Amino acid sequence: MPTAYSDLVKPELLSQPIYQPGKPIEDVARELGLDPNSIIKLASNENPLGASPKAIEAAKSALDDVELYPDGGCFELKRSLSETLGLEPEQFIVGNGSNEVLELLGHAFIGPGDEAVMGKGAFIVYKLVTLLFGGTPVEVPMSDFTHDLNAMASAVTERTKIVFLPSPDNPSGTANTAEDIRAFALGLPEHVLFVLDEAYAEYLENGPDLRDLIAAGRKIFCTRTFSKIYGLAGLRIGYGYGSAELVSLLNRAREPFNVNAIAQAAAIAALQDREFVGDCRAANEIGRLQLEAGFAKLGCSFIRSFANFVTVKVGDGMGCFQRLQEMGVIVRPLAPYGMPEWVRITIGLPEQNERALSALNSFLNS
Ligand SMILES: Cc1ncc(COP(=O)(O)O)c(C=O)c1O
Repeated sequence: MPTAYSDLVKPELLSQPIYQPGKPIEDVARELGLDPNSIIKLASNENPLGASPKAIEAAKSALDDVELYPDGGCFELKRSLSETLGLEPEQFIVGNGSNEVLELLGHAFIGPGDEAVMGKGAFIVYKLVTLLFGGTPVEVPMSDFTHDLNAMASAVTERTKIVFLPSPDNPSGTANTAEDIRAFALGLPEHVLFVLDEAYAEYLENGPDLRDLIAAGRKIFCTRTFSKIYGLAGLRIGYGYGSAELVSLLNRAREPFNVNAIAQAAAIAALQDREFVGDCRAANEIGRLQLEAGFAKLGCSFIRSFANFVTVKVGDGMGCFQRLQEMGVIVRPLAPYGMPEWVRITIGLPEQNERALSALNSFLNS
């Protein structure tokens, strides 16, 4: 009997769930015979306004030097982050998307027998990372689509290595209050690392600020991304910040040139264009109100979102996803998150939102 690859790979890989990304425009165009230019994608919480023109310019200039390896230590970007967030450059780690930073936590902390606590229905990567490294995800039911911090605290055991909390959450869009998150962080036992995922932080007013707790030596690590409000999802760049000691440990698990030079250059310029970020935040707010008003008119309940998407109850989420796709509107069905009656719609430009609402209307009346 020849040996199969499945006999050779690590057992946890065989049961590893597969991440289902938002469907790319090209796939939908190919499958349904549609013109790619007629399709809008509101499925991955990308920025409909694109990226700052300054970031695009910086990315183009960086192309001049592509024969050189990038700066593996992301020196300039960390300096910009340090100025922006008032932390030391050594407190930042940059990744190929914040997804990679989350994975580095798995490399560094999770092994068989270890537990990671997370909300049931939270961003699925926490669970995937925990399983990938042979750990046990402890999924805590959410309350009214919001992370139940008391229940999460109660789920912590001596085996818990990490507690993951996204705020705002994806896919619900809900956010715990800054005060509650702070109290939660302070109440966790000393042996637990609290990871606050701030992928949508720039959309949130009065979000939590745990920098003083990090300075005081609390085991806290926050992750952020350039994929959302900065509009650089295609370049894959995100970062985390915490104590310099934690960051130096994570760096041991990091591949030497994990972040490409074009992404680094674009991120530095993006960070500096505060005006663009402000414009995006304002446009997002208008789009949110537009979608919410449209959903209300259609009689659909929705979850109040603090991010750049709205999750709406449509009855048959998969059916809605398929019907809207045929009409050239890609949204995200939420059955993989245990919400089969819901879809998540990224807040788009006004005309895109209008198109999504009109497609939803047609689905509901079909
Ligand atoms: C809550 C949350 N965290 C992290 C990520 C990962 O983003 P990226 O890897 O593009 O930085 C996402 C992406 O959708 C997200 O929704």
